[in-house]
Amino acid sequence: MKKFDINQKLGDIAAEFPKAAELFREYKIDYCCGGNRALIEAIEEGNLNGQEIVDKLNDLYNEYASKNELERNWQEAPLNELVDHILNKHHAYLWAELPNISELTTKILRAHGTNHPEISKVHKLFHNLKMELESHLVKEEAQQYPAIRKYEESKVKNDLDEAIRVIMELEDEHTGAGDILKKLRKITDDYTVPDDGCPTYKQTYDKLQELESDMFEHIHLENNILFPRLFNLTNNSMR
Ligand SMILES: [Fe+2]
Ligand SMILES: [Fe+2]
Repeated sequence: MKKFDINQKLGDIAAEFPKAAELFREYKIDYCCGGNRALIEAIEEGNLNGQEIVDKLNDLYNEYASKNELERNWQEAPLNELVDHILNKHHAYLWAELPNISELTTKILRAHGTNHPEISKVHKLFHNLKMELESHLVKEEAQQYPAIRKYEESKVKNDLDEAIRVIMELEDEHTGAGDILKKLRKITDDYTVPDDGCPTYKQTYDKLQELESDMFEHIHLENNILFPRLFNLTNNSMR
């Protein structure tokens, strides 16, 4: 069964089939901040083998569909449930891990900063990301998500408008965070630990990669699913 083709948008593919994200990551295809582009554009940009990627994507989908392991359909789940999922999985992860990774990057800066000048860039970039993310999370937790919950109960347009008002700002912040993550990957040469790197060095790079994939999934759920669903609601309510 051929489900996906190269003309589909990256964000739509990942929204319909979350496992696609793993494949996109493998090929370094940005599906969260760049989710509005068609798969073909990313293939051309990265000089990738389109047929191979589409085949793998469809094989992966068929495998999961046959095992009946398709994940929750976030396009259709109630908005409250989607917001809870983002909070419990992704916000909780960031609040717990950002301080840990901060400590780790400071440790390797002190131990290896002289021999590996790139560490000081990693240290600075990570802390910029941490600071920006913390205020971003607070904005979502204190403003947008409560407005969504309020709208789910009231169905009053003003509550929906409140949730939509901040979307542009939030999207810009997602792009900013995505850019920092891309810079981190570049500076660390795809998180390659140098020969003289200690176990903490490796642990720090592992954690930064874990942070990257969690952030990609998180941004994808908001940019490609949550925000478009809110826009659709306003369009429908204006009819
Ligand atoms: Fe969020
Ligand atoms: Fe966000």
